Amino acid sequence: MSFTSCADYQAGWFTPYRRMAEDQPDLIAFLGDYIYEYGDYKYPVRDQAGGECLDLAGYRVRHAQHKADPESQLAHAIAPWVVVWDDHDIENAWAGDVPEQPDPPFLKRRAEAFQAYYENMPLRRAQRPGGASLKLYRSIRWGAIANLHLLDTRQYRDLYACTGRSGTVGPDCLERFEPNRTLLGRDQEAWLDGELKRSRATWDLLGQQVFFMEMDWTNGAGKGYSNEGWDGYVASRNRLTAAIDDNQRNAVVLTGDVHSHWAGEIKRDHQDPESKTVAVELVTTSVTSAGNGLDEYPNTQILLEENPHVKFFNGRRGYVRTRLTQQEMKVDFRSLSRITEPYAPAYTSGSFVIEPGDPRLNPA
Ligand SMILES: [Fe+2]
Repeated sequence: MSFTSCADYQAGWFTPYRRMAEDQPDLIAFLGDYIYEYGDYKYPVRDQAGGECLDLAGYRVRHAQHKADPESQLAHAIAPWVVVWDDHDIENAWAGDVPEQPDPPFLKRRAEAFQAYYENMPLRRAQRPGGASLKLYRSIRWGAIANLHLLDTRQYRDLYACTGRSGTVGPDCLERFEPNRTLLGRDQEAWLDGELKRSRATWDLLGQQVFFMEMDWTNGAGKGYSNEGWDGYVASRNRLTAAIDDNQRNAVVLTGDVHSHWAGEIKRDHQDPESKTVAVELVTTSVTSAGNGLDEYPNTQILLEENPHVKFFNGRRGYVRTRLTQQEMKVDFRSLSRITEPYAPAYTSGSFVIEPGDPRLNPA
């Protein structure tokens, strides 16, 4: 099973899709930002059709252009896909019923984006949209090996803590700890709780959009946390880590959104230094978003030192390749040197093995 996220047509060539297809995976999981709703860039690597997606016709054209791309076609032809959206499938940084910009009227725009998503992505009839809502969250059983729980962290979330808008907030932002705050919404939380109770698979994979483990993004003595990821919804995260731990599930959280590879170990309660590790998170980089990137940035080592539960970073474009058995989950982070020109080769920038019953990243 391979997974990736964030395919910005204007940002580059979809070579990561070609390299994914060459591995001949049995399944591809796509974790959001299959399209970008943005208008035209001043200096795009490739020209997109249409301007900013604002209505059904606009979203349909964007989806059509992605489906016409030969690299995208290779990846769709090689394996079935399971998909979740992220913000750009609709609008940057939307949260529940709250848009980033007031125009056009958001619920109408969201309904039309959902409609185009449903028409173009492999979803079942149960996901057929009803106006401005679409029940995206669902579980898919993969034999005795794995249950895939596909989550929606956008449609039911409380608004961004402390500032009302997406960004990095300091440790004095206490709203992010409020016990009633939810990222999944009450119904989805209850549903996921039930799924984890019932699950008898070796692995429970949680396919979702935003950074799950705690992450201090500020270098040095100061601390800074994203209020867009689970750090902005700490009680919601703790309810889920407790469900994973109490039901003794071998959970691996699969994440997109941040346009770089990360791997780390999830604590039952990140606020408690004595807390035990209960799951592993694998964050995939993007197909093209953010341009070519670098393997490491000047602050990479500082970030890893200040977040010791985080074990790996790579800042190129690519995807994550896994092999799941009853005995282990093998993980290869795949990176490409460039996507501003076509046909770059892929290389493995990091490899890990996870064993059932022991939620740790073992270097492989
Ligand atoms: Fe993205």
